[in-house]
Amino acid sequence: MDKEKFYITTPIYYTNNYLHIGHSYCTIATDTMARYKKMRGYDVKFLTGSDEHGQKIEESAKQKGISPKEYVDHITNHIKELWSLLNIDYDYYIRTTDEKHIKAVQKIFKALYDKGDIYKGYYEGLYCTPCETFFTESQLKDGKCPDCGREVHKVKEESYFFKLSKYQDRLIKHIEENEDFISPSSRKNEMLNNFLRPGLEDLCVSRTSFKWGIPVEFDKEHVVYVWIDALSNYISALGYGTDNDSDFKKYWPADIHVVGKEIVRFHTIIWPAMLMALDLPLPKQIFGHGWLLIDGGKMSKSKGNVVDPKVLVDRYGVDAIRYFLLREVAFGQDGNFTNKALIERINFDLANDLGNLLSRTVGMIDKYFEGTLPKVQDNNDKLEQEIIDFCSDIVLKVEDYMDKMQFSNALTEIWNLVRRVNKYIDETTPWVLAKDETKKQKLANIMYTLAESLRIIGILINPAMPNTSKAIFEQLSINNEDLKSWDSTKSFGLLPKDLAITKGNVIFPRIDIEKELEELEAMKPKNTQNSNKTEDNKIEEKEQIGFEDFLKMDFKIGEILECEKIKKSNKLLKSQVKIGDKIIQIVSGIANYYTPEEMVGKRVVVLTNLKPAKLCGEISEGMILAASDSDNNLKIITVEDNENVIKSGAEVR
Ligand code: MSP
Repeated sequence: MDKEKFYITTPIYYTNNYLHIGHSYCTIATDTMARYKKMRGYDVKFLTGSDEHGQKIEESAKQKGISPKEYVDHITNHIKELWSLLNIDYDYYIRTTDEKHIKAVQKIFKALYDKGDIYKGYYEGLYCTPCETFFTESQLKDGKCPDCGREVHKVKEESYFFKLSKYQDRLIKHIEENEDFISPSSRKNEMLNNFLRPGLEDLCVSRTSFKWGIPVEFDKEHVVYVWIDALSNYISALGYGTDNDSDFKKYWPADIHVVGKEIVRFHTIIWPAMLMALDLPLPKQIFGHGWLLIDGGKMSKSKGNVVDPKVLVDRYGVDAIRYFLLREVAFGQDGNFTNKALIERINFDLANDLGNLLSRTVGMIDKYFEGTLPKVQDNNDKLEQEIIDFCSDIVLKVEDYMDKMQFSNALTEIWNLVRRVNKYIDETTPWVLAKDETKKQKLANIMYTLAESLRIIGILINPAMPNTSKAIFEQLSINNEDLKSWDSTKSFGLLPKDLAITKGNVIFPRIDIEKELEELEAMKPKNTQNSNKTEDNKIEEKEQIGFEDFLKMDFKIGEILECEKIKKSNKLLKSQVKIGDKIIQIVSGIANYYTPEEMVGKRVVVLTNLKPAKLCGEISEGMILAASDSDNNLKIITVEDNENVIKSGAEVR
């Protein structure tokens, strides 16, 4: 029998900036769902990709002195590397610069034009170039862009328009009649009440003021503008409009488009209207997830390393990040990202609960049975039966939550099982039984129950934490694929009755939270206060300060006399810095960029009246200034003075 198909997509990511952990959130969730459906036996197609056209990209490339294509190639490679780092197992990656996408978009545009659903007119509006968005007068904030606060410009342009208004009634009907079309349901009411019922305006779908886009085939002055280009990716990736459209026939309509809340409107109004105009079936569901916030505000790469997924994976491992994102925030709602919450989850849920369960189980089988259990006998122990019943109950709950993309609830249930099984160890006190030879068989039965529970836990966590699942199977020496399958969670007792284990490393080492937070704090200034770049590579304009504010800061030339690494940290250097006749100690997060030897003898710029702070237990009495950028480059600011005229202690003004 043919497998049932399941087509799931992420949005295509803008290539005008590097991605932060908030972007990864959407992709990790979609990957988890795709992996789950694969395990449940579906023929899954998981699509992701990149959105590579637009004025912003044209400008960024120009600033860098390269062609737009070179620019998007570079960013797209970076995005793909990030997905590989995060273990994102997509089936297809679509780029809007792909030839097959360009052809499909041109075909769609022409078809809508021929049908009379696209017509030519004039667009007049107030336009914010960096945000690529038009605003009405009343939407502006103090006469400036309500999103980024920058100047807007009056623009009048010949444009093509899509007759969105024509589809308003059909859209309302479809949304009202299809309960699950927009999920969660709060987003459905928002769309109906705020946009659809008040009335839709026709949509500007072409531009003439820039060139980096898909040319309108029959009017080459125009390029297709944002949404027709971007949204069409979901079908162009399947070969729509080409001779090779078997994937389109097989996988369309999409089962779920996973998108962030700010683009739900485009996916539930513009996209379905386009599909209606093309006489194509509509996607079954659009799931609008919430935002990951930092300090309660919008996340951006300019907020520093703490939101750089690479840095986080480097420090804690990919599964810890995947687990945290899926567990901490109910999918659909906004959630706050803090390092403290992340480290606490790692210490409590991963190291204490899951890590301990595995290391205790494997450790005891190793210690009491030299790594191989004697043949286990079936028994009717009441406690064991409780664990078996608990497992089967949890499996059903996890399935129910996963089907609804409620990842946090699914993981909560799995962790209820982890904790129940840990409690089972305390209830059965194996270390007492181990002292009594006559209790050997009972002890073996307990070990078996533990190992079998861990096998089931290993399967249940697999969609969210594939590496950890693998590590559990390895330590339990499970090679047989059948014993790793989702279906096998329905039967307790499938492990061989004379189980052998392979002791391995601790899967989640505990983190010294205080030290870690101090280190992360030390990384912050480099990326937040010293960095003058925003995510789209523009110079960030900070609030103006008066001369009296500037005078409060005491910048001096300092000479590095001694410098050493701080043992407890990979990132920090401790320097003794001579400022005139005074010597102060400064801790700086620069160990990845300079060796202590390179630092000694340098004359650097120091902010000397910064309040002292302790970093990794070491007092820091100032700040050595450095230049850094969002690509993680860093250079210390030194004095250009070969004759050695400027001595330490000299004022910097
Ligand atoms: N290119 C458009 C999508 C076109 S789809 C036809 C786009 N790209 S994006 O790169 O800006 O965003 C991609 C996804 O990342 C969006 O779903 C967006 O909501 C999500 N996120 C960006 N920042 C986020 C957080 N801080 N938190 C959660 N998701 C976030 O929009």
